[in-house]
Amino acid sequence: MESKLRIGIAGMGNAGTMHAKAVLGGSISRACIAAVCDGKSSLERARQFIPESARQFESYDEMIASGSCDAIVVATPHMQHPEQSVKALKAGLHVFCEKPSGVSASAAREMNKAAAASGKVFAMDFSRRQEPYVIKLRELISSGELGEIYRVNWIATNWYRSDSYFASAAWRGTWAGEGGGALINQCIHILDLWQHLFGLPDRVRGFCRFGKKHSVEVEDEATAFLEHGNGVTGVLSVSLCESPGTDRLEIACSRGKLVLESKSLRFYKTEVSLEEFNRANDKGFGEPPFQVCEIPVSGEADLTSGLLKNFVDAVLDGSPVLVPGSEGLASLEIENAILLSSWTDSWAGVPVDAEAFDRELKKRAAASKKTLSSTMKVFDLKDSFK
Ligand SMILES: NC(=O)c1ccc[n+]([C@@H]2O[C@H](COP(=O)([O-])OP(=O)(O)OC[C@H]3O[C@@H](n4cnc5c(N)ncnc54)[C@H](O)[C@@H]3O)[C@@H](O)[C@H]2O)c1
Repeated sequence: MESKLRIGIAGMGNAGTMHAKAVLGGSISRACIAAVCDGKSSLERARQFIPESARQFESYDEMIASGSCDAIVVATPHMQHPEQSVKALKAGLHVFCEKPSGVSASAAREMNKAAAASGKVFAMDFSRRQEPYVIKLRELISSGELGEIYRVNWIATNWYRSDSYFASAAWRGTWAGEGGGALINQCIHILDLWQHLFGLPDRVRGFCRFGKKHSVEVEDEATAFLEHGNGVTGVLSVSLCESPGTDRLEIACSRGKLVLESKSLRFYKTEVSLEEFNRANDKGFGEPPFQVCEIPVSGEADLTSGLLKNFVDAVLDGSPVLVPGSEGLASLEIENAILLSSWTDSWAGVPVDAEAFDRELKKRAAASKKTLSSTMKVFDLKDSFK
C-alpha cells in the first residue's frame, strides 16, 4: 500500500482548519495530518477533530525538526509566510503556502530563491485560478480570439466584510499585524488573476482609502490605474465596504469587448477587427457590426481542497503544480506598488522599489494600534468563496 504524505500544518485558524478537514474528510486520500502547530488555545480547539496520532507543537521550529512531516502547509498570518516557508524548504520539506507570499516583495523574492535552491515542491493557494471561467479566459486571450487587448476594467467590490471579521483575530486590519488590507488579503486573488491573464504592469498609480468604513488602519477601498508596457491600460477598483458588490471584468479589445460578470462570459464580437474596420471605413462615423456571444463555461472549481490535492499529487507523482509558489510574487509586486503609490502620491514602478515599500510600511507598523477589541474566532471559509 502507498504510504501517505505526512503533512504538518502551521496555524490552525480558518485556513489551517479548512485544510485539515479536507484531508481528514477524505477529499485528499493520499495524505494524512501528521502534525499541527499553533498556540495553546488553537491546539485545544484543533484536538476536537484531529486524530490522536497527529503530533501537536507550540513551536514551529520544533515541528519542522521533528521528523514527523514530509510537507508543511503554511496557514499562519501573511507576514510569517516567507520565513516559515524558507525554514521548511531548507529543512528538506515540501511547502504548500497560503496566499499571499508575505506582505513585502523583498521577503518574497528571498523565499523564491530558497525554493529554487531546495528542489522541493513549493505551491501556493491561489485557488481561484482553477475557476473554469479563468481557464476559459486564458484560452481566449492566448488563442488570439480577442485580438489585441486595449483596456481592462475590473470592478471587484463584492468582498464585503463587517467589523466583526476584523475583530476575529488581533493581527487583522493593522499595519503591524497584517501589513495591508483589502489588497493583501481578499483582493490579492484579483491581483493574481490580473497578472495571470494580462501579465505584470510596468507602473501603477494607486488611490487607497484607509479605514473608510471599518475601524481599521489599512485600506478597505482601493482604486488603481495600471499601465502595461504593451500598451494595455487598466483600472481596478476593490472594496470591502459595499453590498451588494460587483464583480465585473470588461476587456476592450480589437475584436470587440469581453465581459465577465457573475462567472459568466459574454463576448461582443465585431464582424471584423477594429484595425480592419478603421482601414476600410471612409464614412467618418459608423462602427463595425457585432454579435453577442455567450461563451459556455462548464464545471466547478474545488476551491477548498483542489490545490492542496494537486500539491500532494505533485509531491508523490512528480506531476505539474497548478500554482507554483514562486508565482505568488507577481501579485505582491502589484499590491506593494499600489500601496506605495498611494502613500507617496506618485507613480510606482513594477517590479516595486522594495526598499521604499519596506521603509514606508515600517513607519506605519511602528505607529500601529488595534482599535477593535479582538477575540479569536474561526469561521467556515466556504462562506467566503463566492
Ligand atoms: N486561499 C484562501 O482563499 C484563503 C482563505 C483564508 C485565509 N487564507 C490565508 O491564510 C492565512 C491565515 O488566515 P486565517 O484566516 O486562517 O487566519 P487565522 O487568524 O484564523 O489563523 C491563523 C492561525 O495562525 C496561528 N499562528 C500565528 N503565528 C503562528 C506561528 N508562528 N506558528 C503557528 N501558528 C501560528 C494563530 O494562532 C491562528 O490560529 C492568511 O495569510 C490568509 O490570507 C487564504
